[in-house]
Amino acid sequence: MSDEKSPVLHVYDGIEEHDNQLPNWWLAILWTTLVFGAGYWFWYHIAEAGPGQLGEYAAESAEHAQRMASNTPASDELLLALVKDPTSLESGKGVFQANCAACHGAQGQGLIGPNLTDGFWLHGSAPMAIHKVVAEGAVAKGMPAWERTLGAERVKAVTAYLLTLKGTNAPGGKAPQGEPETP
Ligand code: HEC
Repeated sequence: MSDEKSPVLHVYDGIEEHDNQLPNWWLAILWTTLVFGAGYWFWYHIAEAGPGQLGEYAAESAEHAQRMASNTPASDELLLALVKDPTSLESGKGVFQANCAACHGAQGQGLIGPNLTDGFWLHGSAPMAIHKVVAEGAVAKGMPAWERTLGAERVKAVTAYLLTLKGTNAPGGKAPQGEPETP
């Protein structure tokens, strides 16, 4: 599209170069993007008023990790990770007080059931060994199976809580039973 009024700046091989005014729609888009860009930069990078791309990514990753953990079958790694999660330990402690303290004592020092705070274990001291006896019980010996009643999440949480009781040697504890814990 050639504009009659715009001056010819340069001719080469019959091709004319004009200095046309940029169309207004084009200028409108240019100015809008510049203003938007400056606003965006100020909002997210200077004022840090919004979470920004990295923040949103981190939030979504954390949510994803949480969803994964709640669907993940128990493993030594997962149980040890739960030991570092205050929410899970808090819930595990609640589960223990409500369901286990009657037989194992409020500090885990042992009553009808064995002391869970000494270094001795009847069924093994590894996170998954403890998880197994909590989930499946030792029914013939008087330890109920808990997975059905409590569900997988609470069994994982209470197992993580037991891992924090290990070696606390609660006062007035029941005499050791089983084998000493091997490091
Ligand atoms: C009715 C009493 C009773 C209740 C309630 C009970 N336990 Fe036990 N628990 C026992 C007895 C008895 C044993 C010992 C089993 C054996 O001799 O093999 C035991 C063993 C255990 C062991 C294995 C200890 C070792 O030395 O290897 C763990 C871990 C355990 N209980 C955790 C729990 C948790 C967690 C709860 C609550 C969710 C719970 N118990 C509730 C009676 C109970």
